[in-house]
Amino acid sequence: MYYLLRLVVLNADHIHNFFVPFLLQVGLFIATVLPVLRRYSRRGTYHSKKRLDGQTAFVTGGNTGLGYETSKDLCRRGARVVMLVQEAGMGRAAVHKIEEELKGDAKRGQIAMKTINLGNFAKIRQCANELREEETRLDLLVLNAGVCTFQN
Ligand SMILES: NC(=O)c1ccc[n+]([C@@H]2O[C@H](COP(=O)([O-])OP(=O)(O)OC[C@H]3O[C@@H](n4cnc5c(N)ncnc54)[C@H](OP(=O)(O)O)[C@@H]3O)[C@@H](O)[C@H]2O)c1
Repeated sequence: MYYLLRLVVLNADHIHNFFVPFLLQVGLFIATVLPVLRRYSRRGTYHSKKRLDGQTAFVTGGNTGLGYETSKDLCRRGARVVMLVQEAGMGRAAVHKIEEELKGDAKRGQIAMKTINLGNFAKIRQCANELREEETRLDLLVLNAGVCTFQN
């Protein structure tokens, strides 16, 4: 507003004297504030290009939300990922979706799924024993599944 008012009352010479510092200020703003905003907006997000070829990861709750994105990222970086999911249909759909999203990426790893019910200790032990027999190694265990409730 201040600059607009000045623009109205000033003649051509003054306009030149006004615009040069104005543009300098805009340039200075873009050069200093935008990188800070960009950096701030990336805070809390993990980015890694580290390859995980030959490694095996288990991700509980891998069919949706944070578990899904984690599974996809690990697979993209070359890991064999086993998503441990509550419901087989949803697990198969998630495997299919990740395969579609990473289609054409020759460096991606494998993605598989297995059912687990984390609300039942006997089922957890059974799943763990089966995994011990089916898989040859475990490098990364992502215990993501759970529910988050908010109270007023
Ligand atoms: N998103 C956030 O802002 C936030 C903040 C703080 C903490 N967290 C925590 O981060 C984790 C993931 O969050 P999210 O937002 O991605 O949650 P989400 O989308 O609700 O996913 C939770 C996952 O856990 C699975 N799960 C729940 N109970 C299970 C059980 N008994 N057995 C096997 N799997 C079960 C769900 O399976 P189904 O799909 O079959 O239900 C789903 O795959 C949760 O532990 C949450 O508490 C999230």
